[in-house]
Amino acid sequence: MNYDAWADWYDVFYSSVGVDDVEFYVELAQASGGPVLEIGCGTGRVSLPIAAAGIDVVGVDFSTAMLEKAREQATKTKGHGGAVEFVQGDMRTLALDRHFPLVIIPARTLYLALTPEEQLETLRRAAEHLAPTGALAFNLFVPDSDLISDVSEEPFSMGETIHPETGLRCLLSAVNRTDPVGQTIHSIQTVEELSDTGEVVRTVNLEVDLRYLYPSEVHVMLEQVGIVADQVFGDFDGGPLTEDSEEMVWVVRAAAP
Ligand SMILES: C[S@@+](CC[C@H](N)C(=O)[O-])C[C@H]1O[C@@H](n2cnc3c(N)ncnc32)[C@H](O)[C@@H]1O
Repeated sequence: MNYDAWADWYDVFYSSVGVDDVEFYVELAQASGGPVLEIGCGTGRVSLPIAAAGIDVVGVDFSTAMLEKAREQATKTKGHGGAVEFVQGDMRTLALDRHFPLVIIPARTLYLALTPEEQLETLRRAAEHLAPTGALAFNLFVPDSDLISDVSEEPFSMGETIHPETGLRCLLSAVNRTDPVGQTIHSIQTVEELSDTGEVVRTVNLEVDLRYLYPSEVHVMLEQVGIVADQVFGDFDGGPLTEDSEEMVWVVRAAAP
């Protein structure tokens, strides 16, 4: 799936989510000493704060437009902190011929690989870029029964935010089409930008396809690519993964040879 259409809107959507994953990944990056490989780096939402903390980072993404945004942001902070390199590449076939003490796949990006084979290959590629004692960290939403059983295709609100450039209020909503057998979701996400008097001045529809996984499936996939799935949390503060958790946060390492 091409993420180019998202480039101007990704940060607008993300600003409404309110998940403080950035601090979590920055702390891991600092503990690793770097350099860090971010797979699916998008606009640099995570890579750039890592660099700002003084750690070198390589961000890889498929989308030309997302990478342009990331490079644009990077020029604003150039000369401060760690070195940043943004590279175009496909996470399912990535081969940089480099090894990193920390590889990260934030923001549920593994779900953008749309078949079990592609998800496994993405994890395999990530594992192959790890230094011998390196860690792989990634987060995914936990599929909950409400989400999976909702086949109503009714629009629902995703909150609201202020557009960082126009300063106008934006209402965010989505319609999901879920296939519980294939474990896929086709989502159409809509931004309605409102004038000061509350009229809609712009409507943008963005699409995303994803394939979700259950925690036990992630375990099996990690084992298959030679990773020890020793740490999985239920949030970004190190809380346990329970049946009420909304997120699974994995910090895992290559198995000893
Ligand atoms: C949800 S965004 C995450 C961006 C960033 N990691 C963050 O946390 O804000 C997912 C990103 O993954 C990229 N992506 C999707 N499929 C990809 C693939 N096969 N290879 C590399 N990047 C991919 C998209 O272009 C998009 O920028």
